[in-house]
Amino acid sequence: MRILAIETSCDETAISLVEAKGRLNPPAGGLSFKVLGNNLASQAKIHAPYGGVYPTLAKREHIKNLPILFDQTLKQAKLEKNNKPFDLIAVTQGPGLEPALWTGIVFAENLAKKFKAPVIPVNHMLGHYFSVFADKEKFSISKSQFPILALLVSGGHTELILSKDFMKFKKIGETRDDAAGEAFDKVARLLGLPYPGGPEISRLAEVCRKNQESKIKLPRPMLNSPDFDFSFSGLKTAVLYLTQKIGKLTPKIKKEIAREFEDAVVDVLVSKTLRAAEKYKIKTLIVAGGVASNKHLRNVFNHKLQNTTYKLLFPARELATDNSLMIALAGYFQVLKNKKIKSAKNIQAKGNLKI
Ligand code: KG4
Ligand code: ZN
Repeated sequence: MRILAIETSCDETAISLVEAKGRLNPPAGGLSFKVLGNNLASQAKIHAPYGGVYPTLAKREHIKNLPILFDQTLKQAKLEKNNKPFDLIAVTQGPGLEPALWTGIVFAENLAKKFKAPVIPVNHMLGHYFSVFADKEKFSISKSQFPILALLVSGGHTELILSKDFMKFKKIGETRDDAAGEAFDKVARLLGLPYPGGPEISRLAEVCRKNQESKIKLPRPMLNSPDFDFSFSGLKTAVLYLTQKIGKLTPKIKKEIAREFEDAVVDVLVSKTLRAAEKYKIKTLIVAGGVASNKHLRNVFNHKLQNTTYKLLFPARELATDNSLMIALAGYFQVLKNKKIKSAKNIQAKGNLKI
């Protein structure tokens, strides 16, 4: 099945065309995913002066980019003339910025009419969940891989999702305030680093880890709470007070703060995830979302899981942050779960859509 996927939930406009094959429900088999065309326009530079994503600007840029990316994607796919270019359109419905989400939905619905193709709404977080398979032409999802635990860490979300069977999801923990990515972005701003803050903090933290000790100490919020929830807003406030106390931030101090902040976030994420993994006797651990591109987080998970039987799945680096290949995959699994394609009418953007 050829799927056209559209993603506009935040500040990346992305369109891709993929050929997806295989079954999901037992016995699962022959799952394959071939990228025919894939394009992404990042608006990060446009939003950088605002220190975060500016929704009306994001909307304007999506509207400008969508038709350009669509044409590029079809060109890349080099489809034979007279062939129907796609059998299905999968579009992100939420969660995300509603003005941004609407642009993708309206574009998808217009294409659906023009090409007489069905359109289905996709949950962006499920996209992140399945992004771990998006760079593999062939992959398997079998009963033996369950239970699966997923730590989804992005700019808007931090949640632990437990899955005991195909396409069955239960949230067992989430952040009570800021998302991990949001904390990276806010702390970056306090340190005078550009948006998005995650990669910048990570870069400084790594330099510090190689060359110097960090004398800074920051809290590990909710590290020992008996639930699987997180909290990152207190950590951000601790950095705020620290920077106010220090006054002039030298490059050396910035690196030390970046390192200790990254250590604190990673400590909490890894420790709580592993505790949940143990409690639910999982077999597979997925770590996905923008923050999953963090090198230190990957290293610590890899290290801690060395002597366990869990299989650890990360997305390819370029597929950890927002993209449309993950939307195509999540859309395909949704179709397989429902066993048929049911075109949606009047898709509504849902900024707070839950898994
Ligand atoms: O998944 P994503 O692209 O968008 C949302 O769905 O929110 O995640 C973006 C978030 C931003 O907060 C960004 O700072 C963070 O992911 N991020 C990182 C890294 N790369 C991106 N955080 C920590 N380390 C990184 N290397
Ligand atoms: Zn995302």
